[in-house]
Amino acid sequence: MPAIVIVGAQWGDEGKGKATDQLGSRVDLVVKFNGGNNAGHTVVIGAETYALHLLPSGILTPGVVPVIGNGVVVDLSVLFEELDTLDARGIDTSRLVVSANAHIIAPYNRVLDKTTERFLGSRRIGTTGRGIGPTYADKMNRLGLRVQDLFDEKILLQKVEGALELKNQILAKVYNRRAVDPAEVVDKLLSYTDRVRPMVADTSLLLERALDAGRTVLLEAGQATLLDVDHGTYPFVTSSSATAGGACTGSGIPPTRIDRVVAILKAYTTRVGEGPFPTELHDAIGERLRKSGWEYGTTTGRPRRCGWFDAVIGRYAARVNGVTDFVLTKLDVLTGLERVPVCVAYDVGGVRHDEMPMTQTDFHHATPIFEELPGWWEDISGARSLADLPASAQHYVHALEEMVGRRISVVGVGPGRDESLVLHDLL
Ligand code: GDP
Ligand code: IMO
Ligand code: MG
Repeated sequence: MPAIVIVGAQWGDEGKGKATDQLGSRVDLVVKFNGGNNAGHTVVIGAETYALHLLPSGILTPGVVPVIGNGVVVDLSVLFEELDTLDARGIDTSRLVVSANAHIIAPYNRVLDKTTERFLGSRRIGTTGRGIGPTYADKMNRLGLRVQDLFDEKILLQKVEGALELKNQILAKVYNRRAVDPAEVVDKLLSYTDRVRPMVADTSLLLERALDAGRTVLLEAGQATLLDVDHGTYPFVTSSSATAGGACTGSGIPPTRIDRVVAILKAYTTRVGEGPFPTELHDAIGERLRKSGWEYGTTTGRPRRCGWFDAVIGRYAARVNGVTDFVLTKLDVLTGLERVPVCVAYDVGGVRHDEMPMTQTDFHHATPIFEELPGWWEDISGARSLADLPASAQHYVHALEEMVGRRISVVGVGPGRDESLVLHDLL
């Protein structure tokens, strides 16, 4: 039965949370498979607005089983805080399941994330400071702590001591910070054990059984294609696999069971943090997109960098994720422009590139080749079918579809649950 993956096509904040929420109770399980509380998904349901970080967006739909997969890094204090906030707002969070293999963000990794960024100065990544990078580094270094380690006090202490052996030297001798006491860390982590225990499961097995029983599983990415540690604009990326392949390694669902890959694509482009961004606008129009699209980070509140739509990135996302359907979001934000430039290719040192350049150096030097599409002035937030859109907005959707080479199945015209046009059903 269907396993469907949702990924971000650009640099994040495309509207993945809204897309997941819209599928609502037609989905049985929603799995977060990568990242941690660096993500920020805003979901608007009627007059209520929810900002989710660590929890999968499916938690807002009654009856859906939200799953934190093995590919996620979990800050346990944030997990409980988020659950408490939702409980207080009347959301039933009791179905949450957490993988025994998910890694824990230890308090020292939050410290190291912030300290390293300060140390890097102008070479910083602009991370969210949540300890994501150091926690994934520990995982790959085989120094990580997993949720299941909370159930074995002796092993937990051994692992924390092992991880801190080198880190304490670095903290003290390189960063001039106080060394961390392993016993203190262990005490803190053990204080979460009783509450988390009933949520923990072998989620790979749970998901296989659910699929065998004909249930629908949605795998929801945090971050996005160009923030993926392998396929993104390295080193200006996050430290996890945010592309469709990550849905398999981060959940334990094999590739042969994935039926559909939906990529969320903003009608223009935004980026938070440092790194190259060919179509970025540094002028009043960029500011206008930021204001009308409310482009401020859900997690850190930082203003998002804004620029025109980039079809090279769209094609790249289609390719590396094997996209079957795009959801084009925030078309309403472009209302009121005489003409809308769209980047169709890059110029790098006089050479035209229709595909992503092979090297980061070339990507850093890429200047956009624009095609200007006609704009529209009408308020489109009430549109519910393609025919309700002004001719130039319809043309914009079709032109982008042609450029990215895969069908656009849904178009967003506002943040609300029902503010979308469905051209092809996603399930
Ligand atoms: P995510 O990280 O991909 O889930 O995206 P974010 O939630 O960080 O950012 C997307 C923002 O755009 C949120 O505030 C959404 O409520 C909002 N949004 C999503 N789709 C649309 C749309 O079609 N139009 C408008 N105006 N806002 C949208
Ligand atoms: P959602 O899921 C946008 C960016 C940070 C930084 C880089 C590395 O809401 O789309 P990290 O803390 O992950 O080590 O930071 O990645 N970043 C995001 N940008 N949306 C996100 O998530 C992001 N998560 C991380 O700004 O540039
Ligand atoms: Mg976001």
